[in-house]
Amino acid sequence: MSSIELRQVTKRFGDTLIVDSIDLTIEDGSFTVLLGPSGCGKTTTLNMISGLEEVTSGTILFDGKEMQDVPPHRRDVAMVFQSYALYPNRSVRENISFALKLRKQPAAEIAARVAEVAEMLDISALLDRKPRQLSGGQQQRVALARAIVRRPNVFLLDEPLSNLDAKLRADMRISLRELQRELGGTFVYVTHDQGEAMSMADQVVVMNGGVVQQEAPPLDLYRRPANRFVAGFVGTPGMNFVPGALEDDGSFAHGDWTVPIGWTGPARPGVTLGVRPEDVTLEPDDGPDAAGKVRLIERLGVEAIVVASFPSGDVIARADPDIELDPGTRVAMRVRPGKVHLFDAEGGDALAWTPAPKIAKEVGSG
Ligand SMILES: Nc1ncnc2c1ncn2[C@@H]1O[C@H](COP(=O)(O)OP(=O)(O)OP(=O)(O)O)[C@@H](O)[C@H]1O
Ligand SMILES: [Mg+2]
Repeated sequence: MSSIELRQVTKRFGDTLIVDSIDLTIEDGSFTVLLGPSGCGKTTTLNMISGLEEVTSGTILFDGKEMQDVPPHRRDVAMVFQSYALYPNRSVRENISFALKLRKQPAAEIAARVAEVAEMLDISALLDRKPRQLSGGQQQRVALARAIVRRPNVFLLDEPLSNLDAKLRADMRISLRELQRELGGTFVYVTHDQGEAMSMADQVVVMNGGVVQQEAPPLDLYRRPANRFVAGFVGTPGMNFVPGALEDDGSFAHGDWTVPIGWTGPARPGVTLGVRPEDVTLEPDDGPDAAGKVRLIERLGVEAIVVASFPSGDVIARADPDIELDPGTRVAMRVRPGKVHLFDAEGGDALAWTPAPKIAKEVGSG
């Protein structure tokens, strides 16, 4: 097994800075997900770990040993790519055993290992088929089998589920976690899908514009986002944001709309309030607070998603699936005061604060 460490790892293509001085520790045997929007440098980072891409500067360590100048085939990593190019004219069995044959392993050993991984991935019945005779999900599992059969210390997976339908993706998320538990290797998994990251990761590394924004276990990321980018990227529907100011009396104010949030610091302008859809209610109201108007209600079975337009932008709330509310209704927005997040409006960093004890207690959490 291997722990992986990136120190000040930077990548430029020509003059363009793509990955900006990343520091990262990936623990031995952990499932770490690199999460971020398209083009933020996830694949480039993964490729530097595998050795397919050289670092411009910085150090990559496996178990404390410098690796950045070691060629890929000597790093003992297996990669699964988004486009899992299988050899079309070879059977599943030949696809899986190819790397072992190249290494001149004895035939009996190869047969035993292929049988073992095929069993693990539930593709034993498919070993004599050609890739084109398989579904997308089956091909994906063959690609995984091909990586696993070599028993590497490190698995690097780049959006390996992106070609699958929703049901298969959900199944494969579970299989991958089980697989990791059985194999015990270090997994680094790249995705732009926050749901995938939240459901699978021990540790999530959120990237944007080639910079690590936050590194934390999924729930920490959700509950204590380090900045507005992370707050907006993790969770669906996304966090609601309202611009405004903090007042001397401990409240947040957006024009005439104020919420007592238990702010204990000095008054200041230039603050963005963030609140998740589960901590907002949109209540029918005719009074001066009713600045919003219901646009849309999505009834999803387990819950309803209510979207209302306010002068500051759309606000989204989770609600009871049977909520009685119609598009066009005027609504006021109420938030759970102990559940709000505060961000510096300019830089986007989260303000470090704890609501006054009374407020925190009222809503039964912190
Ligand atoms: N060989 C290259 N030469 C020049 N620019 C490149 C090269 N490879 C990648 N880039 C650029 O580097 C940036 C990061 O690319 P990368 O593939 O790492 O993104 P990503 O986070 O994996 O995105 P996606 O989710 O779309 O796969 C992009 O702007 C891309 O255009
Ligand atoms: Mg990519």
